[in-house]
Amino acid sequence: MTDNIDPRDYVAAPGSHAGRVILVTGAGAGIGRAVSMALARQGATVALLGKTQRKLEATYDAIVAAGGPRPALLPLNLETATAAEYDALHAALLKEFGRLDGLAHLAGILGARSPIDHYDVPTWCKVLHVNLTAAFVLTQACLPLLRASPDASVVFTSSSVGRKGRAYWGAYAVSKFGVEGLMQVLAHELQDTTSIRANSLNPGAVNTYMRLQAYPAEDRKLLPEPEAVTAPYLYLLGPDSRGISGNAFDCQR
Ligand SMILES: NC(=O)c1ccc[n+]([C@@H]2O[C@H](COP(=O)([O-])OP(=O)(O)OC[C@H]3O[C@@H](n4cnc5c(N)ncnc54)[C@H](OP(=O)(O)O)[C@@H]3O)[C@@H](O)[C@H]2O)c1
Repeated sequence: MTDNIDPRDYVAAPGSHAGRVILVTGAGAGIGRAVSMALARQGATVALLGKTQRKLEATYDAIVAAGGPRPALLPLNLETATAAEYDALHAALLKEFGRLDGLAHLAGILGARSPIDHYDVPTWCKVLHVNLTAAFVLTQACLPLLRASPDASVVFTSSSVGRKGRAYWGAYAVSKFGVEGLMQVLAHELQDTTSIRANSLNPGAVNTYMRLQAYPAEDRKLLPEPEAVTAPYLYLLGPDSRGISGNAFDCQR
């Protein structure tokens, strides 16, 4: 463990993640794609989970073209996934790798920007399910694989509105508050009996499809690209953050 590193200042040494097997959700687009690419560049084998197979294949091709370790493809719709699908996912990872050294939750949806007065109830349920409940179920399904690693890390992706509520962010904000709670409960449960750590990251404003949905009128050229926020993910998913758990970090100043 390296003490007192601000994850935003982390610079990964070449090959820092070599030999690690890390599952990334939302790996077909936005920040999840950039984190997957960055992990592979550091030598990790990445299991790419996302809704759209075509997008996962594009991330796969980009990693292989860049000379990274051959990734695994895990198409899964987190809105509709059944217990049988989570069991199959666990079985596939167990067969191929026998363990997981990291789990990075990047998949998410925005839902509606609407006052609570008028928030559409089915949309509320969908956002809570994809952003929070699915992250819980996937983490639960992966815990036996994480326990099989000598140095495993779970990273949840939060938001500034998941740390301080803001008008009209509705289910999205509430789901991210839930993600912070899930991280804290999990970290506390694991701290004395395992070496698995759990932390959360707030990416800040990043030029992705979700950001475009939330702020359609802003000048996208002024926003950082997803590649600019990968260092804190590398830090928390790699060996240098061993022993750091239960914390909420930011990707930007
Ligand atoms: N961008 C920002 O400014 C910002 C700020 C704060 C927090 N965040 C958080 O950062 C994370 C990544 O967001 P992003 O900005 O990179 O968004 P994005 O470009 O819209 O990417 C979201 C990813 O989630 C996947 N996804 C959505 N619904 C899914 C489902 N039902 N099953 C499986 N995968 C699903 C998408 O896959 P498909 O493309 O196949 O649907 C996509 O890969 C999210 O948790 C978001 O809340 C982003």
